[in-house]
Amino acid sequence: MSSKQVILITGSSTGFGRLFAETLARQGHTVFASMRDLGGKNAKNAAELLALAERESLAIHTVELDVTSDASVENAVRSVVTQAGRIDVAINNAGYSIASLMEAITTQQAQQIFDTNFFGALRVNRSVLPHMRRQRSGVLIHISSGAGRLVFPSFGMYCASKFAMEAAAEAYRYELAAQGIESVIVQPGAYETPILGKFLAGADASRTETYGPLANVPEMLYATLGRTAGNAQEVADAVLRIVETPAGQKRLRYRVSPSDIGVDAINESAARVQASLLKAFGLAEMTAFSQQKAAASD
Ligand SMILES: NC(=O)c1ccc[n+]([C@@H]2O[C@H](COP(=O)([O-])OP(=O)(O)OC[C@H]3O[C@@H](n4cnc5c(N)ncnc54)[C@H](OP(=O)(O)O)[C@@H]3O)[C@@H](O)[C@H]2O)c1
Repeated sequence: MSSKQVILITGSSTGFGRLFAETLARQGHTVFASMRDLGGKNAKNAAELLALAERESLAIHTVELDVTSDASVENAVRSVVTQAGRIDVAINNAGYSIASLMEAITTQQAQQIFDTNFFGALRVNRSVLPHMRRQRSGVLIHISSGAGRLVFPSFGMYCASKFAMEAAAEAYRYELAAQGIESVIVQPGAYETPILGKFLAGADASRTETYGPLANVPEMLYATLGRTAGNAQEVADAVLRIVETPAGQKRLRYRVSPSDIGVDAINESAARVQASLLKAFGLAEMTAFSQQKAAASD
């Protein structure tokens, strides 16, 4: 594989996704910065990104992609492969947060956040994997969170969606390694992006009446996150390093955070337990990364 890669990013209109696009393209990678509603609410964001690409002669293309729609994901991936001939890296970044006590979140709100944060990544992975298999290489990157490992009261539904993403991403890791395809999880701490200003509230506020001071926890957390948030470029730089790490040498999890709240310790402990589990079930060898096996299966 060439060291310069073809990269599809979801949710590139603002925040991390936008920074990933700029940072990766500045290092010579070809970036497909996808976003939903390209002709409407994101038209300005897309135009700004394309203007930057023009100014700096960067290979950035914008493409319409709503992660909640199978058809939209399929169309976007088809468009990338038609234009670039391949797809080396898919970055599952699109996501949003609800800050609310669990009970105030309606079932419909819960389904919607999973549709974006969890099923969105599954749709993208299902769509890109046949192309990666044909190439015998590829990387699935999942933008999870410290909230994919730890539980904050009033972030419960967001945590649930990121825990689900982590489980799926780890299963992909074991199942795809023998075909030369890597699955990676990035766990950012709090960083300054527009997400901090657009947490959704639970739609059924009447359910918070009996919670006393706990009902104010969403506001408390929101204020703390705002105070401690780091510079989002750190996460983009980490993603660049991951993309440029040679095949077979990428770790499963990367914690990137302005503060240490114990996520690394959980990751290290879980890695040890998982490794002995795979060994005990006779799965260690068949879940190991192999470019050879992928080539031999042709
Ligand atoms: N910032 C942090 O502190 C932090 C920490 C840990 C993890 N994260 C994760 O990082 C990822 C990026 O968030 P961010 O902080 O960069 O916030 P952001 O600026 O709000 O970016 C979120 C992106 O997701 C997009 N998106 C939402 N729903 C979508 C859909 N159905 N289809 C396609 N795109 C969709 C948004 O697009 P629209 O403009 O169209 O809404 C936006 O581009 C998220 O998964 C978030 O959970 C963030």
